[in-house]
Amino acid sequence: MNESNKITVTSPLLPNLDEFKAMLDDIWDRKWLTNNGFYHKELEKSLADYLGVKYISLFTNGTLPLITALQAMKITGEVITTPYSFVATTHSIWWNGLKPVFVDVEEETGNIDPEKIEAAITPHTTAIMPVHVYGTPCNMKRIQEIADIYGLKIIYDAAHAFGVKKDGESVLKAGDMSTLSFHATKVYNTIEGGALVCHDEATKKRIDFLKNFGFAGETTVVAPGINSKMDEIRSAYGLLNLKQVDSAIANRKFIAEKYRTALKDVPGIRFLKDVEGVRHNYAYFPIFISEEYGMSRDALYAKLQEHNIYGRRYFYPLISTFSAYKGLESADPKNLPIAHKLADQVLCLPMFADLDGEGVDRVIEVITK
Ligand SMILES: Cc1ncc(COP(=O)(O)O)c(C=O)c1O
Repeated sequence: MNESNKITVTSPLLPNLDEFKAMLDDIWDRKWLTNNGFYHKELEKSLADYLGVKYISLFTNGTLPLITALQAMKITGEVITTPYSFVATTHSIWWNGLKPVFVDVEEETGNIDPEKIEAAITPHTTAIMPVHVYGTPCNMKRIQEIADIYGLKIIYDAAHAFGVKKDGESVLKAGDMSTLSFHATKVYNTIEGGALVCHDEATKKRIDFLKNFGFAGETTVVAPGINSKMDEIRSAYGLLNLKQVDSAIANRKFIAEKYRTALKDVPGIRFLKDVEGVRHNYAYFPIFISEEYGMSRDALYAKLQEHNIYGRRYFYPLISTFSAYKGLESADPKNLPIAHKLADQVLCLPMFADLDGEGVDRVIEVITK
């Protein structure tokens, strides 16, 4: 296969190399590589500003903030969540020795269906962990109403929702905490990285202890914390990428519009639409393929590969089908019909900031011919 015309499902947003080298020189001069250094502090400030939130803590990836959020709020018993996500969502519950309880999703968005949450609540339920899948905001108002009635905490997995706003407000303001992933494949990346957003200073302090082994002072350890500190090199890289994330999102929007225009009349192909009042980030371009298309999702996935185009079946298989979770009562496919349908139909098309119009046309041609 010709490597030069290969189209991958994603490709990382890279900062200007000369600017990065200059920052590396500065880091070498400072001789301070990690533990809340200069660039770490700068990135926390800049991200809080860009994202429109007050309290944000940087992490080494997007999984540890999920694990730490559950720790920080001392969540016990059962956590209601969605099977239609990346495995890290449920793994974070398992790593805390808690029981995940799966609830089905909405067909329109792929997000947890708020109307099915109440039926899954038991006396052991203490929290809900929804995911803003593909960056489309969950029904945050309804989820909050339910949490308030039953006294539950909400941790949003916002790994896909960098920069997403609803009615002018960051979605990261919803619930008790939200997590982000800055993995290389995301809209905004620090190579590996992530963050935890909370809403008050005392909680941020606790989170910062927890991501540094529980250290609250030189000789004081207040909890069995973990090590999830972001280093100076990736913090500097993150500052540079932040400068270009808006233009990256604008390019992604252009690609999404091109796909939508070309695919809107293709029978058997459905895609996500922009929601009014939402500033989308176009993190993914999932299409859902039904029988009318005349070819199965897996056949189209293979056909694209024959043309050197690599989509991704994201999210397939469902988390609830993996060996660690499939024995749970809530993992019964009869409990999750919509999630199973989406997992069987979905194919994420190539989507990244420097995918050019010609590349998009190549993908469209294979799908429409
Ligand atoms: C929904 C979701 N949650 C959590 C994660 C975990 O993030 P990370 O890979 O940065 O640990 C991801 C990453 O792909 C994700 O897509």
